[in-house]
Amino acid sequence: MNTEAISYALDEGVATLTLNRPELRNAISRGLVDEFFAVLESIANTPEARAIILTGAGDKAFCAGADLKERASMSPDEVETFLKDLNGLMTAIDSFKLPVIAAINGAAFGGGLEFALAADIRLAAESAVVGLTETRLAIIPGAGGTQRLPRIVGKGKALELILTGRRIDAREALRIGLVNNVYPADTLMAESRKLALEICAGGPIAVQQAKVAVKRGLDTDLAAGLAIESEAYAVCIPTEDRLEGLQAFREKRKPMYKGK
Ligand code: COA
Repeated sequence: MNTEAISYALDEGVATLTLNRPELRNAISRGLVDEFFAVLESIANTPEARAIILTGAGDKAFCAGADLKERASMSPDEVETFLKDLNGLMTAIDSFKLPVIAAINGAAFGGGLEFALAADIRLAAESAVVGLTETRLAIIPGAGGTQRLPRIVGKGKALELILTGRRIDAREALRIGLVNNVYPADTLMAESRKLALEICAGGPIAVQQAKVAVKRGLDTDLAAGLAIESEAYAVCIPTEDRLEGLQAFREKRKPMYKGK
């Protein structure tokens, strides 16, 4: 499926979503948000899809954040509605049933970094530069950044980055745990794909339930988190794939999971 602001391709279970406005450094317009929702819905209805890679077109930017040119023409009410929808999109990515890998191929500022923060795993090109730069524009991160960044790098580092609006390079992002790994730019997509395929080798329902357990569990206390884990495990018990996993182990072969 190819739409205006986002392109989408499915290959061996891996859905690659590319923010596709390279001339504007993949900035987030109203149209991009609407298209993103539509692409997610389409992937949700594609049973062969097992993992998502989110990246940006071109070699300059993953996403330069909100489309500041479009923003300048919006009324305060329109800005509020846009932010509400963008927040909803970030939550839809964060809670999407499939694992999402952000392949940060260049600059990721403001809403651009917030896309990556909503993903489950972040990989970056050596050339990537990231930051929640909003305070420099006299606003604050408005699509989950103030909540998701501290959950990933801790309160102190997140406050330092958000209050200063500082841009950091890929090495620093790796050092503070903001990204899981850094690769030369020309190998980033291959490495992201390798990771996605590694995830796709697992039982699809198990992978989805593991995401639920970790993500929902972390937003609550240990006892409630353990209950969430038990519920997620219970979803896996009656699946055909669980029995296939046991049988494949017995027969010393690779399991053939169907997501059932
Ligand atoms: N919204 C709208 N247009 C944007 C944009 C944004 N967030 N970021 C970049 N662009 C546009 C530029 O205005 C320029 O358009 P022009 O050719 O009509 O002048 C084009 O994209 C290329 O930008 P440029 O700055 O020349 O590219 P670059 O590769 O040298 O730098 C960035 C890329 C992302 C580092 C730089 O554009 C930047 O810092 N952008 C602003 C990021 C930001 O503050 N985001 C908002 C956070 S809240």
